Amino acid sequence: MSVGNTGLPRADVPAAFDVGAPAYDRLVSSSPGYHAHLRLSARRLRLPDRGRGLRLLDAGCGTGASTAALLAAAPHAEIVAFDASAEMLAQARAKPWPASVRFVHSRAEDLADAGVRGPFDGILAAYLIRNLPDPDGQLRALHDLLRPGGTLAVHEYSVRDSRRARAMWHLVAWSVIIPAGRAATGDASLYRYLWRSVDNFDGADRFRRRLREAGFTGVHSETMTGWQRGVVHTFLATRPTPPEQA
Ligand SMILES: C[S@@+](CC[C@H](N)C(=O)[O-])C[C@H]1O[C@@H](n2cnc3c(N)ncnc32)[C@H](O)[C@@H]1O
Repeated sequence: MSVGNTGLPRADVPAAFDVGAPAYDRLVSSSPGYHAHLRLSARRLRLPDRGRGLRLLDAGCGTGASTAALLAAAPHAEIVAFDASAEMLAQARAKPWPASVRFVHSRAEDLADAGVRGPFDGILAAYLIRNLPDPDGQLRALHDLLRPGGTLAVHEYSVRDSRRARAMWHLVAWSVIIPAGRAATGDASLYRYLWRSVDNFDGADRFRRRLREAGFTGVHSETMTGWQRGVVHTFLATRPTPPEQA
């Protein structure tokens, strides 16, 4: 995965989200399909019995949009949601949540120090992996946080495999996302970073391979509807069950 030339070192991404946090919900709500697509990715985890008895992790929960999607798919589950941006988390915590949802301020890289321990039955990582300094190390860490047989859903932009998707991404980024971000916050740098980081990110084929290299099996992906078709994907990957437990 190319991590260079995005105009923002990966370690500084959470601080950029601190600045963008007050406008985040307003901006994503004006993006058609944003919440529906997160809910679709959460449903694609195929969590049984509306989550009864399950523990779920929302990795990089931001203002809680992906947490709400997990909650809709599994209202009976215990959900741990973490993010490295204090301001994004403050937006999330200000919303009403059932007692089964807990927010933790932590970088993905420091979860053990923050007291977040597995096993989890399912993990949703929405728009997170592309932002990490060491995506391979963190994919392995998410694998290890799952119980054997548990599933990771990575909800992410990936446009490099398709000229049409790449063209659509450039069009939407430059005609909508960057101008709207600048208008809402007075600073377009986070949104220009978003454009570049998506453009530089793995194609779907490469990312599926990356998941297999991190130890996952059953790796596959499905895309979305609307302008996000071929642009945003759910990548699904399972921690294999050891033969003696199968
Ligand atoms: C685009 S937002 C997505 C938020 C939410 N998942 C959603 O779908 O709306 C990406 C989030 O990842 C967080 N993030 C970036 N790098 C991180 C890291 N190393 N550890 C934890 N969170 C991180 C940012 O702070 C930000 O809130």
